[in-house]
Order: sequence, then structure tokens, then C-alpha cells
Amino acid sequence: MIGVFDSGHGGLTILQALTRRLPARDFLYLGDHGHAPYGDRDAEEIYQLTIAAVERLFGRGCRLVILACNTAAVALRRLQQTWLPHHYPQHRVLGVLVPMVEEVTGMPWLADPATTPYRGDARSIAVFATRRTVDSRMYAQEIGKRAPSVRVLEQPCPKLAALIEQGAPRPEWAHFIQRYVAEMLAANGGQPPDAALLGCTHYPLAADLFRAALPAGVRLLSQPAPTADSLAAYLDRHPGLDAPGSGRVKFLTSGEPQRVGAMASAFYGARTPFIGI
Ligand code: DGL
Repeated sequence: MIGVFDSGHGGLTILQALTRRLPARDFLYLGDHGHAPYGDRDAEEIYQLTIAAVERLFGRGCRLVILACNTAAVALRRLQQTWLPHHYPQHRVLGVLVPMVEEVTGMPWLADPATTPYRGDARSIAVFATRRTVDSRMYAQEIGKRAPSVRVLEQPCPKLAALIEQGAPRPEWAHFIQRYVAEMLAANGGQPPDAALLGCTHYPLAADLFRAALPAGVRLLSQPAPTADSLAAYLDRHPGLDAPGSGRVKFLTSGEPQRVGAMASAFYGARTPFIGI
């Protein structure tokens, strides 16, 4: 059974892609709805909440957990380097950053840019994300190391994950998305970027609104499919980490299960019978 974690509903967009790509695997989803959104919390708080959630998934029998949350990914390196080796050396935690940077650059994560240079055609990429993700500069740094010629425009969208999480009316989402797109364009001297990356797992739920707000011709990059392809390849390389099951999916929440379940089902496109933790 593979654990999938997000602060709230956003990770369901990733979970949906994972279940389609890996239909025989069992998944256990945990949404920390009781503490969502994470986007404006400080790094230490996010680290502690993320560890608590990962530990809960480990405790339920997952040896592999996907952090389906960019904001929690600010905690990922510390968690992988200091906490995991001491407490759970046989377990693994993976994020969404690596698959996206590979997708954007067309280069394997561990490729040496000196021998495998960037050959993509995008010269500028806008990254839309929460304030915490933007502050971490993780996309700019990791894309920059591999493709230094690419201009990365990081645009915080401070209200958006919360609006999606609360189930606010879509015209409200659209209003803020138009504002964030306008801010990004202004920061780029009015020039449209070649591509726009939705760097928060809540945003695929608003992909159509981003599409409508962005100038025509901007390529929209979303996280679910690359994350699913990357996990499938990882499982091929590490067959001992998870055994195929029967395609069961279970849902846990730190929030109020009835309320969370009703809203999440609409996002997920199938029933999400959440159970409280
Ligand atoms: N879905 C999350 C992300 O990918 C977090 C949103 C939030 O909790 O602010 O960043």
C-alpha cells in the first residue's frame, strides 16, 4: 500500500493519476484538512506537520509515501536526510518536485548538465505556487541548475489553495487567477512565458481557469501525469518497496470526515469515503 499525503484536497489530483497509472496498487490517502492550507505557515511548522502525517501513513503499513504537496516539499530534503535514515531507514518518501523538474527540463534528475545539456525549447517558465513554495525558490533553483538559460518567473498565489479547499465559488477562483496571471505578466515586461507550471497540487482543479487567463500559446504543465509516470518507473527500480494489491483506495483526514468527503468527491470524480484519524 502506497501512502499519499497533502495538506487537503489538492493531493487527490495526484492520487487520481496514480490510480489510473497503477490500477493494481493499493493507496492510502491522508489529507491534513484540519491544518490546511499550509501555504502561509512557517517552514518549521510545515516540517512538523509533514513528519506527523508521514509517520501516520507508515504506522498504517505504507513503506513508501508520496508527498503530493509542493508546500510540504519544503520539508522533504530535511526529512529525507535527517529524520528518515534514523527513524525509518527501510522506508521512502518521494515528492512532486523531481518529476516536474525532469518534465520541464527533459533531463533525468541526476544528469550532469555538463555532459547532458538542456535541449528544451522553453526559454521562460512561469511557476504558480503557494507563497511558501515560492519563498523556498525550489523550482527556480532546481531548474536553474539544469537549464541556466531558462528564465523562471515564480508567482505566488496566496489565496488560491484556500479558496479551492473551502469550496468557494469558481468565479472567485477565476478572479484571483486573473490577478496572479496579470502580476506574472507585468513582472515579465508584458511578455508571455513559453510555459506555465502549476506548482501546487490544488491547481489542476483550476487548470481550465489558468488556461483561460493565460495568453494563447503558453504551454500548461501540470503535476499529476509526470508524478504518476515517475512513480511507476521508481517502483520498477525498487520492486521490494510495495507489492501489487487489488486496487483499493482508502481516505483519511484530520478534518471533519463528512464535510471533507462530500467536497472531495466532487473534486475526485468518485466517492471518497473519508475516515477521521
Ligand atoms: N496542495 C499544496 C501544494 O501543492 C498545498 C496547498 C496549501 O496547503 O497551501 O502546495
